[in-house]
Amino acid sequence: MSAKDAKTDLDAGVLNNSEWVKRWGVGDTAFHQGAHDPLFDTHGDMMFEGGAKSVFAPLCGKSLDLIWMYNRGHTVVGVEIAEQAVQELFSENKLDVQVKHVEGVGPLYKSIDGRLQVYVGDLFDLTKDRLGEFDRVWDSRSIVAINVVDQERYRDLLLSFLKKDGQYYLMTIDYDPAVWPGPPHNITDQRVRQLYGEYCNIEVIQESNLTGISNPDNKASGGHAPPAKPKSAGAALRTSSYLYDRYYKMTFK
Ligand SMILES: C[S@@+](CC[C@H](N)C(=O)[O-])C[C@H]1O[C@@H](n2cnc3c(N)ncnc32)[C@H](O)[C@@H]1O
Repeated sequence: MSAKDAKTDLDAGVLNNSEWVKRWGVGDTAFHQGAHDPLFDTHGDMMFEGGAKSVFAPLCGKSLDLIWMYNRGHTVVGVEIAEQAVQELFSENKLDVQVKHVEGVGPLYKSIDGRLQVYVGDLFDLTKDRLGEFDRVWDSRSIVAINVVDQERYRDLLLSFLKKDGQYYLMTIDYDPAVWPGPPHNITDQRVRQLYGEYCNIEVIQESNLTGISNPDNKASGGHAPPAKPKSAGAALRTSSYLYDRYYKMTFK
């Protein structure tokens, strides 16, 4: 069952598409960062070495990462279920836009030069036949937002968009799953390797231990919702005994 048809169950960490759209409508978007990802400052030269690249950014919201890449000459294609986010991406960054309807997906917002394109619709309605293949996948706060039951399907789809010699950059959050049911879903290093290891070489290019406490077992995702649920993901994650951000570089084997 896709997120389109799923029944939102916040206690189980399941969100359907309408719930995401609703969150944008009421400003419940604490995941949105006010600046581009700092990884670009430390690793951007390596990530985009060799000139302009085509980049696919799933579940892109109105992330300033897209603008950073676009401003450096790359061609960036995103997908986002909430049209409000896409409108704000273009208007807040003062980019003129053309909108056309794409059968089977929804509106497609395009900068006038065509180098920034964002589909308003469900990621799972996109296909390689429609989009083609990309030099890079930029998966930031994206896999952590996908319902856990859809993670394998998500991996398969994103790998289908990546050129054989492409690079897939993945950002994960890893915390004690007992404190919050997700999203963001905790994705352990073990889970990344379980999902992608059969197909990809996997390298951790940056890890930040945000509490200074380690999780020696690094157990796979799972766990259960706490008895008294914190009000927000941010509040919950601050109670986790460990909290890691990890960035991976993945290439096909
Ligand atoms: C955690 S946010 C991350 C947004 C962005 N990557 C960022 O870092 O700011 C996840 C986003 O995915 C969108 N979304 C969730 N499920 C989706 C789906 N199936 N297809 C397209 N967008 C989706 C939500 O509306 C939300 O904006």
